[in-house]
Amino acid sequence: MDFSKDFIWGAASAAYQVEGAYNEDGKGLNIWDVFSHQKGNTTHNETGDVACDHYHRFKNDIKLMKKIGIKAYRFSISWTRIIPDGDGKVNQKGIDFYNALIDELIANGIEPMITLFHWDYPYELHCKGGWLNDESSEWFKHYTKVCVKHFSDRVKYWMTINEPQVFVGLGYNRGSFAPKLSCSTPELMRITHNVLLSHGKAVRTIRKHAKLKPVIGWAPTGPTIIPDDETPEAIERARQQSFSLWGDGFLFSNSWWGDPIVLGKYPDEAFERFGDDLKNVIKDGDMEIISTPIDFYGSNIYRSASYANDGSYESNEYLGCPRNAMDWCITDDALYWSARFFHERYKLPILITENGMPCHDWVHLDGKVHDPNRIDYTTRYLRGLKRAANEGVDVMGYLYWSIMDNYEWTDGYDRRFGLIYVDYQTQERTIKDSGYWYSDVIKANGENI
Ligand code: FCB
Repeated sequence: MDFSKDFIWGAASAAYQVEGAYNEDGKGLNIWDVFSHQKGNTTHNETGDVACDHYHRFKNDIKLMKKIGIKAYRFSISWTRIIPDGDGKVNQKGIDFYNALIDELIANGIEPMITLFHWDYPYELHCKGGWLNDESSEWFKHYTKVCVKHFSDRVKYWMTINEPQVFVGLGYNRGSFAPKLSCSTPELMRITHNVLLSHGKAVRTIRKHAKLKPVIGWAPTGPTIIPDDETPEAIERARQQSFSLWGDGFLFSNSWWGDPIVLGKYPDEAFERFGDDLKNVIKDGDMEIISTPIDFYGSNIYRSASYANDGSYESNEYLGCPRNAMDWCITDDALYWSARFFHERYKLPILITENGMPCHDWVHLDGKVHDPNRIDYTTRYLRGLKRAANEGVDVMGYLYWSIMDNYEWTDGYDRRFGLIYVDYQTQERTIKDSGYWYSDVIKANGENI
């Protein structure tokens, strides 16, 4: 059956990575504004102050999206653009920006898909304790309500939270991302629980107030283990490893976040390990809120991981393995096993909310951006996704990360993931070969893969 007729072929971005205009039209500061302005935190001290200037250039960007032919655009809302201090007055100019963006997408036949939170947490709320403050899920609910009030007459697709694994794991535990904290275990339990509660309250708020019937999910990441071979034993081992808590890396695991959201309980292993530290943060009724039903399971997948190494290589790397410009290994079957394992465990339709790769792109002498590696990578991964669809996994769609080159967090602008090349000196855009190739894939509904 291959990809369904209504398969959603799209591309994604996130506010802080593309918008720029960090202090224009009343926008408040977020933790990434503050973090990137502190010297030494990011490569070459680069910030998202201007980024792709998408805030001013979105109309032209949407023209290019239309030229490529994407059917959906996943973008995130900058919380402090619409509520500058995070929980107070609404900034009409911020609302106007997203209204204009949504209208322009629709006028060009592109489905808008909103991510509510993609890491740019309001700085003022952070100063009040941020996710450690038990009010935080109420702040998030208020913010969600404002978005739903203004955008749900035209937007159907909602994603609550992007990759808690990464923003909590790197921002609050390892301290390499904003806001650069190394929290204690009890604090990490509280942060986790407040993030999950925020998700649950957002789902309820959207469901209750949305004008168009909403389709709601979230966008986690997490390691999927690829089995060594396809014997039932190897598959079962990989499945168990994919949903284990990953030792000290529990914040990066799938089940730590996914089980409460879909199955309504933290994994047993979590209680065995954290006991009262975890029990103490769970109040009566919380798990029902957290597990309010969603419509799809999003998945940001770039590579798979593996336990099967001798300590010399990370993840499932091996001597001479193919790598992208992020140094991540190319693992062909990552989308197949992720889609299959998530579907089997959580029994929800799967939306690939992010997948893509960074190359060392530049504009060639002929004025074009030739990126055969990206085309090859995406072909391999999409073949895996197609196999999953053919075996009966309900795959809703695929959103390439990212629509255009952008600010890759602490790595600054060196990592180019886009289908569209951005010259940051001039803000000139060039559709890469992969963008034209993606166009053909979309037209053929993936039959040419
Ligand atoms: C994901 C993030 C996204 C982007 C890609 C490369 O972890 O969600 O913002 O940085 O990785």
